[in-house]
Amino acid sequence: MTVRPLIAGNWKMNGLADESSAELKALADLLANADTVACDVLICPPATLIYQMAQISKDSVLQIGGQDCHANVSGAHTGDTSAAMLKDAGATYAIVGHSERRTDHGETNAVVKAKAEAAIAAGLIAIVCVGETLEQRESGETLAVITDQVKNSLPVGATAENTVIAYEPVWAIGTGKTPTPEDVAEVHAHMRKDLAGLMSDADGVRLLYGGSVKGSNAAELMALDNVNGALVGGASLKASDFWPIVETGLK
Ligand code: PGA
Repeated sequence: MTVRPLIAGNWKMNGLADESSAELKALADLLANADTVACDVLICPPATLIYQMAQISKDSVLQIGGQDCHANVSGAHTGDTSAAMLKDAGATYAIVGHSERRTDHGETNAVVKAKAEAAIAAGLIAIVCVGETLEQRESGETLAVITDQVKNSLPVGATAENTVIAYEPVWAIGTGKTPTPEDVAEVHAHMRKDLAGLMSDADGVRLLYGGSVKGSNAAELMALDNVNGALVGGASLKASDFWPIVETGLK
């Protein structure tokens, strides 16, 4: 089955309007000049910039997403953003369960699952993040941890259209370290197998790798079986750094 890759950038808590607008415009221009765009390309800016970035990219294939959403549609949740609000601002995707959310905000699998369900209910595509810590990898628990996270964070009603899974080893995020290609392939094959027991169109689900993806390692990672794209942090902030990664999905 051919799966259309997704190359996604997560700007995290970085970006003010002027500089971010210029970077997004530069990325949209590069995409406009590409011969073929055989992958989906997404930028998830901070919530304050979603509307503006969606306006800038409205005539581009470039899509905009949120980095998190609340599980509820509305209500007394100071500081939170609902999936419907993200959609209203122009987002088409929402990342949920990023390890920084799981760690900084104590998000459990149950919370992540509820957020993914809220994203889908609002008409967004949910990118559900999973990944083991260094301690878990070193004690040989990686595959068990991934199975637990995939099973218990997967939204009810997940399909290949509305759900993406991102494997991001916690120890590889922002560290410059990546697992070996063999280790990435092993986890991705394992996730595919887990998903096959949970949904009927598991073969079509985009499985992203994330954690220190950059121009110099993207092609090798993207060529692996069951790797259908990337979730990129630091190297997505500048169009010139992100573009070589996007190019690995264009072909
Ligand atoms: P990084 O972040 O590319 O800076 O390692 C990846 C992520 O957290 O999504």
